[in-house]
Amino acid sequence: MEIMTPQHGCAWITGASSGIGAALAEELARRGWQVAISARRDSELQAVAATHANIHGFVCDVTDRAAMAQTVADIEAQLGPIALGVMNAGIYLPTALPEFDPTAFDRTFEVNLTGTVNGLAALVPLMVTRGEGHISLVSSVAGYGGLVTSAAYGASKAALFNMGESLAMDLKPSGVHVSMIAPGFVKTPATDVNAFPMPFIIDADEAARRIANGLAKNRTHISFPRRFAWFLRVLNVLPRSTYVKLAGRFMKR
Ligand SMILES: NC(=O)c1ccc[n+]([C@@H]2O[C@H](COP(=O)([O-])OP(=O)(O)OC[C@H]3O[C@@H](n4cnc5c(N)ncnc54)[C@H](OP(=O)(O)O)[C@@H]3O)[C@@H](O)[C@H]2O)c1
Repeated sequence: MEIMTPQHGCAWITGASSGIGAALAEELARRGWQVAISARRDSELQAVAATHANIHGFVCDVTDRAAMAQTVADIEAQLGPIALGVMNAGIYLPTALPEFDPTAFDRTFEVNLTGTVNGLAALVPLMVTRGEGHISLVSSVAGYGGLVTSAAYGASKAALFNMGESLAMDLKPSGVHVSMIAPGFVKTPATDVNAFPMPFIIDADEAARRIANGLAKNRTHISFPRRFAWFLRVLNVLPRSTYVKLAGRFMKR
């Protein structure tokens, strides 16, 4: 599968007004990409765009399917074909118990899952027609297995893995590469509010470097930091009852 480079077209990152998406925009711009960034907050997008001449802001809510299609059309009209799409927009709403608020699940799935589907709906037909392209879904190590307070978030991220793996198989004959990104803890506005311990946490610039390196090698699964990702993967090959016991204990330390 051909590796997408700035010679093939531009990159589009959703949810790039802060955190990992903003850092990845800067990293890809430094590597020569023209980068379209989208999110809901215009002033934050403009602040990220001001960091590098190659970065261009497009206000868009991922939950608005028609707006996502229009944004892709606007990006391609301004910057040319999108060769690399990183579906990064996401939210984490801790599962509040014992109330169990179903609307937190609705909102999480709407942004993390349907928002990604809306991006795919806009990008896949264009890339298939062109016979090339790379779409990367930002999941999480929280998608490998259940974790404390992550019933909604983890379920949405597990769904992204399953969806991405299916699409990687289905789209391969069309020349379109699909990859999944599984960060561990990264210091961003989303994690700044967490009151629990976050083992092996790294900063957003380091996360962006690891993502950009993985994308440039066409890795299908990009996970980091390596020690934390492997630790969770090993926990996940244990019998499920042992996993639930150990993962629950580890996260409560
Ligand atoms: N930080 C971590 O430890 C970690 C670990 C694993 C995975 N991740 C994943 O990495 C991605 C980025 O997270 P982050 O930590 O960088 O958090 P963040 O700084 O809060 O960034 C989230 C981004 O998503 C955007 N967003 C949220 N709702 C949106 C919507 N409806 N439409 C369009 N954009 C929307 C936000 O922009 P607006 O508010 O301006 O729309 C923001 O740019 C997420 O998918 C997250 O689940 C993060």
